[in-house]
Amino acid sequence: MSELYSISKKIISTGKGILAADESTATMTKRLNAVKVPSTPENRLLFRETLLSSQSMKNCIGGVILYDETVKQIASNKKTIPELISSTGAVPGIKVDTGAKVLANSKDEKITEGLDGLRDRLKEYYKLGARFTKWRAVYVISDKFPSKLSIHTNAHALARYAALVQETGMVPIVEPEVLMDGEHNAQDCFVKTSEVLKKCYDELILNKVDLKGTILKPNMILPGSISKEKMECRKVAELTLKCLKESVPSEVPGIAFLSGGQTEKEATENLNEINKLNNTDFIMTYSYGRALQQSALKFWSKNIKDINGTQNTFNHRANMCSLAAQGKWTEEIENK
Ligand code: G3H
Repeated sequence: MSELYSISKKIISTGKGILAADESTATMTKRLNAVKVPSTPENRLLFRETLLSSQSMKNCIGGVILYDETVKQIASNKKTIPELISSTGAVPGIKVDTGAKVLANSKDEKITEGLDGLRDRLKEYYKLGARFTKWRAVYVISDKFPSKLSIHTNAHALARYAALVQETGMVPIVEPEVLMDGEHNAQDCFVKTSEVLKKCYDELILNKVDLKGTILKPNMILPGSISKEKMECRKVAELTLKCLKESVPSEVPGIAFLSGGQTEKEATENLNEINKLNNTDFIMTYSYGRALQQSALKFWSKNIKDINGTQNTFNHRANMCSLAAQGKWTEEIENK
């Protein structure tokens, strides 16, 4: 177990966070189509390899979450992608759920699948170099959702996943994402997220998961994406900290937020404020997908051969996130 504690600490130690480059092929195709780049295995590898060879990997990225395709790919220097990541000092990780599917008897909600055969897949990923994993459950907010059924079944699956991952000697990232989509206000998000988190920890404890060897990847407490409510980052930070303090057991070493549709700057500013006000013992950092990669992807799509330019764009974002993870980000540094 002490091995697990040191892996989780290494991933989220001061100023470091996680690059979530674990888009499934379908999601990556959507992202590439949006910037008019053909979604081929070579292009998906080229973009990811460009980011993974960036200078900011050393100081800003403690772990990278990969998808099944990427964990098996070979970089241009003949190293495997996990070897390339390890050579920067970061820890390779892998998404192991097989996606969110329609929940039987509640067709507007989702249940995340992937438990069948998981023990064997985990062993394979360990051999490939992965030392941490991710499983994402999703919950929608409306007047009747998330239902008790969705909260219960997803928590159960997350806990069974986490127990199997620790058995294999890896750190599970537990990601219960209460989606931003909708017109709900931040108070609704607070109430539903608290309920979801508490249920997850009930199940994790029931399944004897050692919480010290886990990382939580939650959403921040925000108004819905089409809500009329506007919220200052200070209020977002206060509500997020209150929710986590009340719902997450103190043994959990760290919390690495998802960006969930916030812009790069919003995700940075909110994380910075959370760290400025952090009155808990949790390390608070980032596990961003879009909020770390969006600008770099846009730049790369127009200058596919400009490796340095793409890396500079990524380095800037990673540095800003790293400063935010220490509460040291400012608007001035952002615009320098
Ligand atoms: O599971 C979600 C991703 O790992 C994080 O992506 O930061 O774009 O929400 P996001």
